[in-house]
Amino acid sequence: NPTTNFEKALAAHTEEIIIQTAGDSAEDCSICLCGAHEESPYQSRAETVRDITGSVALKQCRHVFHASCLVQSLATDATSITCPNCKTIHGTLTGTQPSNGTMHVRLNEYSLPGYDGCKTYKITYSFPRGIQGPEHPSPGRPYFLIGFPRCAYLPDTPKGRKVLRLLQEAFDRRLIFTVGTSATTSQPDCVVWNGVHHKTEVTNYGGHGYPDPNYLDNVTMELAALGVTEDNCRNF
Ligand code: APR
Ligand code: ZN
Repeated sequence: NPTTNFEKALAAHTEEIIIQTAGDSAEDCSICLCGAHEESPYQSRAETVRDITGSVALKQCRHVFHASCLVQSLATDATSITCPNCKTIHGTLTGTQPSNGTMHVRLNEYSLPGYDGCKTYKITYSFPRGIQGPEHPSPGRPYFLIGFPRCAYLPDTPKGRKVLRLLQEAFDRRLIFTVGTSATTSQPDCVVWNGVHHKTEVTNYGGHGYPDPNYLDNVTMELAALGVTEDNCRNF
């Protein structure tokens, strides 16, 4: 029976498949680029993983890989599988945002440029000081908190409220921040944004404010790329 997280993820999200025809390139493993009839270059590591041999198909996208190649591409603590081919997320992707952070939301009376007459949500993200875990670049060392608490703004419109709930779900999944090198200060070991853009300004002084008519759609797509969508969110 599966014991580690990634063994559970493999059991939940892949099916073992029988390869029918030798030389059919549709059956090539797109990690090692070898045919499914040939052995994976990572076979030896997989021998330590019980019940996983041969080739598997991911259940949603149906892409095929050698089981041992897929195992090689997963972190041992992985609870989800992102298809190496098409990036379809199988299971719930979680990130490496430090724990014990808070996301505080307050509704204010003022309006954002482009959203006249609408109120404004102000989000405040805070983290206590802490030590990097095994999932971070320098485990055991502290992480730096530059520019915290960080604030972001959303309009109080139906789409704005939808984005707010998606951001709350992404925060719970530890996907809003990560620990890495800050692109703006080149300082390593910082808590940094994780690719989901935030409007940290009301107006556009530094390029991260309003008006921006495409922002709510763009951030919805960035969240979807991390597997956070309306239909898999608890808050909807
Ligand atoms: N506001 C919002 N997003 C920003 C900002 C900003 N002021 N500056 C950069 N980003 C975006 C970038 O477009 C990039 O996609 O964050 C991503 C990562 O950039 P980094 O510089 O590595 O991020 P980080 O160091 O975490 O933050 C930079 O954001 O909120 C501010 O005060 C914070 O000045 C800091 C800045
Ligand atoms: Zn392979």
